Amino acid sequence: MSFTVAVDGPAAAGKGTISRAVAAHFGFAHLDTGLLYRAVGARMLAGEKPIAAAEALLPEDLERPELRTAEVAQAASKVAVIAEVRAALVDFQRAFARRAGGAVLDGRDIGTVICPRAQAKLFVTASAEVRATRRLKELLAAGHPTTLAEVLEDVKARDARDMNRSEAPLKPAQDAVQIDTSALSIEEAVEMAIAAIEARR
Ligand code: C5P
Repeated sequence: MSFTVAVDGPAAAGKGTISRAVAAHFGFAHLDTGLLYRAVGARMLAGEKPIAAAEALLPEDLERPELRTAEVAQAASKVAVIAEVRAALVDFQRAFARRAGGAVLDGRDIGTVICPRAQAKLFVTASAEVRATRRLKELLAAGHPTTLAEVLEDVKARDARDMNRSEAPLKPAQDAVQIDTSALSIEEAVEMAIAAIEARR
């Protein structure tokens, strides 16, 4: 039987870290759904039309290293407002969620739109400042020079676009367990997530 964990929240709140740790703990597969929108965004930056790019997306598109840049993140949040782009990506995500052995999907609309019947739902948040500081460290470590002010602006612009769009806006599902990671260590956040999921098994 399949068991789906939906993990949603704003940029750099800790969704990815928590999702990877939870997937490893339970032996579930993990899909970072942001990569789908980033891959479409990257194809748009390369000159393709977003809807055609989403419809033609290939698994190997998700492996490209440039998907992690701030430029691609902004492009991702722009293509993500387009209903046809979102629709083209639904089947892949739902098929992943149904795989035997369990799956963790992280994104913005997993608990609300993609997997409304997920067995466990988490909504992971943190203050914009904490999130920008974390993202700055990641970008610098990955060799993308930038500043805290730039990253904060980027995070806030994406949050605004993600929360205010009409298609699948970022918001907690009614039955999601909320985890604010602002003052938590990674270990504490992961422990809370595992406990919330255990409670639904
Ligand atoms: O999670 P990540 O920062 O990689 O996501 C990049 C962008 O993709 C987000 O800002 C959002 O606009 C979009 N996205 C989305 N729905 C998802 C995952 C990501 O709209 N499930």
